[in-house]
Amino acid sequence: MCGIFGYIGNREIVPVLIGGLKKLEYRGYDSAGICVSKNGTLQYIKKEGRISELEKEEGLKKISGSIGIAHTRWATHGKPNEKNSHPHLDCKKEIAIVHNGIIENYRVLKKLLTDEGHKILSETDSEIIVHLIEKFYEGDLEDALSKTLKLIEGAYGIAVLSSKEEKIIVAKKGSPLVIGVGEKEMFVASDISPIVEYTKKVIYLSDDEIGIISRGKYIIKNRDGKQIEKDLQEIKWSIESIEKANFKHFMLKESFEEPEVIKNTIRGRIKEGKIKLSINLDFKKIKRIILTACGTSWHSALIGKYLIEEYSKIPCEVDYASEFRYRNPLISEGDLIIAISQSGETADTLAAIKEAKERGAKTLGIVNVVGSTISREVDSGIYLHAGPETGVASTKAFVSQVIAILLFSIYLKQEKGEEIDKELLLEIENIPDKIEKVLFNSEKIKKIAEKFKDSKNFLYFGRGINFPVALEGALKLKEISYIHAEGYPAAEMKHGPIALIDKNMPVVFLATKSSISKKILSNIEEVYARKGKIISIVNEKDLEIEKFSEEVIVVPETLEELSPVVNVISLQLLAYHIANLRGFDVDKPRNLAKSVTVE
Ligand code: F6R
Repeated sequence: MCGIFGYIGNREIVPVLIGGLKKLEYRGYDSAGICVSKNGTLQYIKKEGRISELEKEEGLKKISGSIGIAHTRWATHGKPNEKNSHPHLDCKKEIAIVHNGIIENYRVLKKLLTDEGHKILSETDSEIIVHLIEKFYEGDLEDALSKTLKLIEGAYGIAVLSSKEEKIIVAKKGSPLVIGVGEKEMFVASDISPIVEYTKKVIYLSDDEIGIISRGKYIIKNRDGKQIEKDLQEIKWSIESIEKANFKHFMLKESFEEPEVIKNTIRGRIKEGKIKLSINLDFKKIKRIILTACGTSWHSALIGKYLIEEYSKIPCEVDYASEFRYRNPLISEGDLIIAISQSGETADTLAAIKEAKERGAKTLGIVNVVGSTISREVDSGIYLHAGPETGVASTKAFVSQVIAILLFSIYLKQEKGEEIDKELLLEIENIPDKIEKVLFNSEKIKKIAEKFKDSKNFLYFGRGINFPVALEGALKLKEISYIHAEGYPAAEMKHGPIALIDKNMPVVFLATKSSISKKILSNIEEVYARKGKIISIVNEKDLEIEKFSEEVIVVPETLEELSPVVNVISLQLLAYHIANLRGFDVDKPRNLAKSVTVE
């Protein structure tokens, strides 16, 4: 999703802005641009396509200065082309803005501005912002922006630059913005990835706040225009952790980080046979838990339902955040709504949490990005500590989410005064080694990928706690390899999907040991009888399953409740190798964004 970056300091700006945009590439984009202010003039350049294309532009070499803003655009209103890309400029080319979010009332404002004679060049909702600022500008950019914000409805993260003022002004509502505070230089961005190589000190803007940044100074004002003090936060992520090391893609790097990630998620949380979580909620009052999330995080929520009900015996439901927020949910004080989100910025998940709060529920966040909007919105939370996830397809955040929910589920049981199974705690600590063993299979999985990479469809079947893993395997494959894939509970096969099975259909079975292993075996036989090409994930050489399978991937045995985190690794690798062999840009799949900050 769109990315914002801005810089004011003493460095020569073009390499800084281009470097920053490259750090934002992972969010997904289809055009990019920069605007630099120098000697009372704005110099700008925009380009459809990759940042590497923008870099080739002759015009870029002529741009110099040390104050500027930059943007990667992911089209929402208007096609991905140069005209619609940001920065947008006013009629006199004296003010420029970059904007993330959606201006809902842009049509009326566009009409008003056009009637007043403004020349609006793009099809975007964003461009009206700069013309409104132009309309209100009387020598004070901050004042003009404040008047503009009163008129616009919707979500925004905005950075504004004027040829007449040595500052960048930023404003936020519903779309994240963070200010990086350096020595005599300041940064602004939609997330910390372009900032972290320069400074670890940041300020997260809250909704309705305005930031005025100049060289070596920042001022934050609240919605009433009053200056406020905000704490500087220290970023813990290193630059190495957000670079690719020797891996071809972030997705592969992040998959190989999974053992370490799980260690980080559990660090300090399992102690002397107990779960330690600092959650500020009165659990006695909780009568029902609703997990809400999107995409991959929704799949970990589905696993979470099994775990929470198993350990806490509290009824648990799972809702797509996008559905929850609009379905007039029945919420009461005894409800705990848990939002699961890697980015902590997903618009639907954020809105679901706000909705739940308004209806009187308590809220908890299971979030990766520290300081993100969801993490600040909830009553209490559990951070994943999975480190930055850059590949658009979520991998390490998923396993970390499942482990975090498992810890939380056991914690609920513990809070009820019940005995905790020590063997389970020990096994959680053993999981990183088991995942390591699955990762050793990567080359074997690549060979399987070679065999099936040209398939048109895939089916994934699992049962019980591994049904959501089947959904996740299918999602991973479709999003990065563009092969149509579906996940089902294996028993549902006979109610429809079985009609699809023929000799061209690869069918992945999650067939590791469980209380219902025998049932899975009969599902495998049904597919075999219809000549489907079976790929089985099993725990050890299982002659019976092998007899029916075209390919078998052996993974270490673990407790059933932990099997999703071990099993999903093979599916992530299978999707990765297929997409890579098909020659696709694995980290930036078409049409997808890392952080979905609009509805
Ligand atoms: C898929 C994927 C997405 C996200 C979804 C929610 O690989 O990454 O489906 O899981 O957009 O994002 P978060 O977890 O950031 O709320």
